[in-house]
Amino acid sequence: SDGDAAAGENEFRKCKSCHEIATADETLVRGGKTGPNLYGVVGRTAGTVEGFNYGDDLVRAGEAGLVWDEAQLAAYMEDPRAFLRDYLGDNSARSRMTFRLRKGSEDVAAYLATVGDE
Ligand code: HEM
Repeated sequence: SDGDAAAGENEFRKCKSCHEIATADETLVRGGKTGPNLYGVVGRTAGTVEGFNYGDDLVRAGEAGLVWDEAQLAAYMEDPRAFLRDYLGDNSARSRMTFRLRKGSEDVAAYLATVGDE
């Protein structure tokens, strides 16, 4: 990707109010639980963290085949609702994530690619 993972790690502070990064054994980045755990999100089907109460449209996107890659993550964090509307081709789609990251999304996506098993 074009992203700078070190810059993205710093930028991830904006996400911590709602997201933690944790393996089964260890919390790597402490954060809130309003959003799903983002450990291993690159390569994961959207809307599939067990026990997390997602919005219907993100689950629908996963069922339609959305597997997060860096480019899609960057687009999603810039505007989750617009991303879902575009992906689903449905202008009434909604997102439970209302936060939008205005700059640095490619960096954050590059960082997220470093916190997973691959
Ligand atoms: C969902 C990333 C900031 C709340 C997600 C997902 C990603 C993500 C990738 C989908 C995960 C999946 O499919 O399992 C980020 C990043 C952030 C950020 C990188 C910072 C740049 C926030 C903030 C909040 C939030 C600040 C709360 C104010 C949520 C919620 C969902 C979600 C509630 C579930 C969305 C739904 O079910 O429609 N986030 N997020 N996020 N995020 Fe964030």
